[in-house]
Amino acid sequence: MSDKELVEEAKKYREHAYAPYSGFRVGAAVMTGNGKVYGGCNIENASYSVTNCAERTAIFKAVSEGERDFTALAVVADTDAPCAPCGACRQVVAEFRIPKIIMANMQGAMRTVAGEELLPFAFSGDDMK
Ligand code: THU
Repeated sequence: MSDKELVEEAKKYREHAYAPYSGFRVGAAVMTGNGKVYGGCNIENASYSVTNCAERTAIFKAVSEGERDFTALAVVADTDAPCAPCGACRQVVAEFRIPKIIMANMQGAMRTVAGEELLPFAFSGDDMK
């Protein structure tokens, strides 16, 4: 699946966003090493801090199905610039060493960065050895 197709998948999941408080809808899609795709949306909560971002929804869905090996993550929202993952999601991207992050917006702008670029000097399991 191409980067653009992964963004299209993310857009489909954005339709499922549960965002009654912010009204800001986000979609994400993560691709595994064997080409499987898991999508996610943001899921808000009246207790705001309990909200789950689209990226983490997609990654956690995949991990809960037994996936550990990821090749790319796409995220899309109706932003001026391609939508950048938040800090918490960057930490999860670092945990699973997702090598490629495709940020996109609804106008078709895309920006691809390496996972490592998103969170320099990330805390990881290696630090606890
Ligand atoms: N949000 C995401 O889903 N992903 C991000 O990377 C940025 C923020 C969601 C969380 C919340 O539901 C809404 O966007 C506003 O912060």
